[in-house]
Amino acid sequence: MTTPSEQMIDLLAGQPVVPVLLVRRLEDAIPLARALARGGLPAIEVTLRTPVALDAIRLVSQEVPEAIVGAGTILSARDYGRAADAGSRFIVSPGTTPQLLAEARLGGLPFLPGAATPSEIMALQEEGYTAAKFFPAEQSGGAPYLKALASPLAQMRFCPTGGITPKNAESYLSLPNVICIGGSWVAPDALVGDGRWDEIEALAREASKLRRK
Ligand code: 3PG
Repeated sequence: MTTPSEQMIDLLAGQPVVPVLLVRRLEDAIPLARALARGGLPAIEVTLRTPVALDAIRLVSQEVPEAIVGAGTILSARDYGRAADAGSRFIVSPGTTPQLLAEARLGGLPFLPGAATPSEIMALQEEGYTAAKFFPAEQSGGAPYLKALASPLAQMRFCPTGGITPKNAESYLSLPNVICIGGSWVAPDALVGDGRWDEIEALAREASKLRRK
C-alpha cells in the first residue's frame, strides 16, 4: 500500500509549482482552476481561509475534470473531514498535530503535513511520512535552511511555501530535497478580482516551465 506521502509525491510529480489559492468569490473558482490548468498547473491548493473555500473545492472537483483540486490551510481533523467531503484530492496543512495525523490515517488521501524544524520533521518521519510542506519557507530561513537539512534528514522531501516568487523559486528547485514549491504569485488577488484569466494562464505557463536542476 502506498503511503500518503508517496501518493502526494506521485500526484505532484512533474508539476514544479502548486498554486496556493484564496478564492474570495465562488464564481471565480471554475475560471481560475481552468486558467491554471491551461497554463500547465492542474494541481491547485484551495486554502480554507475564505467562507466559500469548501464550495469552491466542491465546484472545481465536479466541473473542472482537468484540475486536481486539493485543500490547504487544514488546521484540524474537522477541516480534513470537510475538505475530503467536498471532493479534495489531496490535503495540505501548514503544521502537524496528533489529531490531524490520526484523521489522515483514517481518511487515506494524499497528505502533505507541515514542518519547519528538525524535531518536527523527525516526528513526521516516525509516523511514516517522507514529504512535508516547509512553511513559512522564506521566513524560516529559506533555501539555505532547507539545504542544511538535506544531509542529516535525507529521507524527508519538501514542498516549500511562503514568500516564494519567480525570483527565488530556482534557489529552492535546485535543492535535492525539494519536490515542488507552492505560492500564491500565480494567482494574484488583483488579477482574480478583475477576472483576468488570460494573464493568470500566462503566469501559470511561466511557472510550469520552472524545473528542478
Ligand atoms: C501558504 O499557505 O502556503 C502561503 O500562505 C502561501 O504563501 P505566499 O502567499 O507567500 O505564496
